[in-house]
Amino acid sequence: MLSNINLPFELQRLLENLIAVPNNLRAATSKYLSESSNVNVHGEQSMQLDLFANDLVKESLVGLDFIHSIASEEEDELIYMNTNGKYLLCFDPLDGSSLINTNQAVGIVFALYDKDKVFNVPLKESLIMSFYFHIGKNNSLLINYKDNITHLEYLDDGFHVKDVNTINEDANNIAPGNLKLLSTNTRYKDYILSRLESGLKLRYFACLISDIHFLLSKAGGIFIYLNDDKHVNGKLRLLYEVAPVSHIICALNAKSINHTGQNILDLIPSNIHQNSSLVAGSSSEVDLFTELVLNIKE
Ligand code: F6P
Ligand code: MG
Repeated sequence: MLSNINLPFELQRLLENLIAVPNNLRAATSKYLSESSNVNVHGEQSMQLDLFANDLVKESLVGLDFIHSIASEEEDELIYMNTNGKYLLCFDPLDGSSLINTNQAVGIVFALYDKDKVFNVPLKESLIMSFYFHIGKNNSLLINYKDNITHLEYLDDGFHVKDVNTINEDANNIAPGNLKLLSTNTRYKDYILSRLESGLKLRYFACLISDIHFLLSKAGGIFIYLNDDKHVNGKLRLLYEVAPVSHIICALNAKSINHTGQNILDLIPSNIHQNSSLVAGSSSEVDLFTELVLNIKE
């Protein structure tokens, strides 16, 4: 199935090496449901399944000599793989792992960068390919390569191509994260209440990949995770969460900005574990949010 997607040979190999990870993760889940003793670079207690997923991904990359280095949410430092490689692969091996004990969907998200460009140019120029697996009732795989989006879904007999629609300008659902801000940010509170009164449906899964996959599957909506005093730049991870999901949905006509109103794909990162806020989804809704909550007039 992957051979039907128009990808350079190396990128196809990368996906082929990773394609079994979601099912291997499913098969092992019940063995790794406890917390581990590890605290990751973001100060979060890793689940055993986070570490298992991280190992699964790393093992799948062995032999891919075009990968220069990797950065993972579960690794403090960059790991060097092949001196002559061209790419930096950044990933969150298990997005939404705090939900795993409740049998909710989780994700695995990847961003492949030109290793020489990533800290020197805007993300849109260094991102080669973004992709995520959404592990729910079925496994979905979303890929952006050169702004061509491919959506595959795994059924009993393998992956099948699924339709993917562009994202409508208007939202009909809203996923507001970090709601503790409502007690201090009146603009955010007024916006949320008025948009719910206007009929937007509340849909928040607390797993970025699930929220983005929902928005994409419904062809519209807005996801919001603003910064706060504890996470002054936001809590989400720029290189291996926010950038790849923005790369995917912006190729489908969505908008994706941070709390200062900057387009995510225009940012130049400075560190592999950099944090970010995120407001993403239907373009008119992101514009409305920019005006009403961020108080920025276009
Ligand atoms: O990886 C960070 C993350 O788990 C995202 O997947 C998700 O969007 C967010 O944090 C959930 O945060 P909270 O538990 O504060 O809603
Ligand atoms: Mg995550």
